[in-house]
Amino acid sequence: MIQAEIGNATPGEAGEFALGSILNGGGSSPGGNKQASLDDWLSLADAYYDAVVGQERFADAIPMLWGTDAVHGHSNVYGATVFPHNIGLGATRDGDLVHAIGVATAREVAATGLDWTFAPTLAVVRDDRWGRTYEGYSEHPDLVVEYAGRMVTGLQGDAGGAGFLGQGRVLATSKHFIGEGQTTDGQDQGDAVCSEEMLRDVHGGGHRAAIAAGAQTVMAAYNSWLGNKVHGHRYLLTDVLKGGLGFDGFVVSDWDGFLQVADDPAEACARSVNAGVDMLMVGGEWRRTYHDLLQQVGAGNVPMARIDDAVRRILRVKARAQLFSGSRPSQRPAAQDSNALGDPAHRDLARRAVRRSLVLLKNDGVLPLRRDVKVLVAGDGAHDIGKQCGGWTLTWQGTGNDAADFPTGTSIFDGFAQAVPHNGGSVVLSPNGEFGDEAPDVAVVVFGENPYAEGDGDRNHLSYSALDPQPLAILRRMKERGIPTVSIFLTGRPLWVNPELNASDAFVVAWLPGTEGAGVADVLFCGPQGNVGYDFHGRLSFSWPRHALHTPLNVGEAGYAPLFPYGYGLRYRDNGEIGVLDESDVAHGLPALDGTRGDGSTYPRCPVAAEPDD
Ligand code: BGC
Ligand code: BGC
Repeated sequence: MIQAEIGNATPGEAGEFALGSILNGGGSSPGGNKQASLDDWLSLADAYYDAVVGQERFADAIPMLWGTDAVHGHSNVYGATVFPHNIGLGATRDGDLVHAIGVATAREVAATGLDWTFAPTLAVVRDDRWGRTYEGYSEHPDLVVEYAGRMVTGLQGDAGGAGFLGQGRVLATSKHFIGEGQTTDGQDQGDAVCSEEMLRDVHGGGHRAAIAAGAQTVMAAYNSWLGNKVHGHRYLLTDVLKGGLGFDGFVVSDWDGFLQVADDPAEACARSVNAGVDMLMVGGEWRRTYHDLLQQVGAGNVPMARIDDAVRRILRVKARAQLFSGSRPSQRPAAQDSNALGDPAHRDLARRAVRRSLVLLKNDGVLPLRRDVKVLVAGDGAHDIGKQCGGWTLTWQGTGNDAADFPTGTSIFDGFAQAVPHNGGSVVLSPNGEFGDEAPDVAVVVFGENPYAEGDGDRNHLSYSALDPQPLAILRRMKERGIPTVSIFLTGRPLWVNPELNASDAFVVAWLPGTEGAGVADVLFCGPQGNVGYDFHGRLSFSWPRHALHTPLNVGEAGYAPLFPYGYGLRYRDNGEIGVLDESDVAHGLPALDGTRGDGSTYPRCPVAAEPDD
């Protein structure tokens, strides 16, 4: 019932305590080396397997499960294919694509000897100030419901089918249960203040669909519901999830999430397990939790029947995952598949996902670009694969990554450089937008949010340029010189960008596309015949704000008046002129929010303003 972190538990310790599971948390890898090789991963998986199964005090030793956050591809692993974050997949409206990404991701995870991914995230995100907005597919429950089953069957195979959890498949997690997208002000790990109907009808559908598709694990959510932490909520975890929904897999806590239900760690652990948590994901002190749980059972605070139930659930999942096959991780056929990691076919799939996720907000006619033009590619996002991948990529926050960390990816600029053949066209990279005597025909400015994860990404307003005025300055300089401008916006959520929209002749939202940045140029340029090659497909799965405090903003709500509605997304044939937008920044002067609140402390939040008079 204990899941320890690989940085805190050696194989020897895992064997000594017969741990049931380990994880590598965000940014954790063998030897603490984010460029660890495929062999490093397999050797470590073997070492844990041998240490646990080799224990002679058990007649039939029980292999452990290794879980990881493969949340947009096997994104903790060097050389893996990194797919667009879920918000981009939401824009594709393509369930088949989501399924195919699940299949590819599972194959890459299994190739490294791991068993389980903490995905998909099925949050229905209702306030885009939340730092985990990009982990959600949509603000609309229907799209989350549609994708949930597709991703789960992609990862695990068809429940009941011959290939279920067979070679190249891994366990999926329906996370985080439940209500995390509903917290007040979009605060990470905050309180969802809503009715049970809302919890069920808006936030529950994705989990129901995932369970119906056979999801074997559910991760409890950090948030509270009406002031009570979900990790200690017996009604939600036991009565609703295991009872009403008939979930027969196991519930894993979030990272030290069980510790949040009481001040005393032992009491917290007992209350969480009694509420229905079956496996405790321990970020730090797993030995303490191990002894606490034993002691709490001994003291009668946790009934033995509850332990039996939790263990039965974990064993059932291990059996379904074919863990008792008797082979070490590196000997499994899926791990012999040494081409799986970063397979060109997976990268093609990711590039296709990028193409289909792009949302065109504005086009005065500058797009598509001809291949014989002189293009200046500017902005700090133009040639930075780390920035285009976002959080949960090699490091937890996704920060600190550079080109050397992505042996096979393409930046957005790389795609432009490949797209312009030798027929008079040229592409110049200039992050600050400076150029020499010869003016370009068009300037493409790639900019947007820098990587973040979880609460570090929480914001108190949605103004982009209040935090980063640089891209707007570049765009305006181009306009003054009469150079047409195209903006490519990298972002984990809709943000208020009216000034940038006004300064752009075309505006494309690329979300957090992952390692295959070349998919952007595929769509922006004419095809080889000079006609439209790939058209835009993406449609907003989140409503776009009219002003910087325009949140919560969700389709179906009373008074719904977004700048661009849910489902908006231009095609090349559309008239993409949107007129001049109001540039007054209602967030101007608000204290900036610097995030960094993993410790649960609070920061000044602005009141959610009513519609400004306009
Ligand atoms: C996140 C989970 C994640 C876990 C393990 C937690 O902080 O909320 O989504 O699966 O860490 O990395
Ligand atoms: C881990 C993440 C985890 C987070 C929780 C980080 O140190 O790497 O996996 O989600 O802590 O605070």
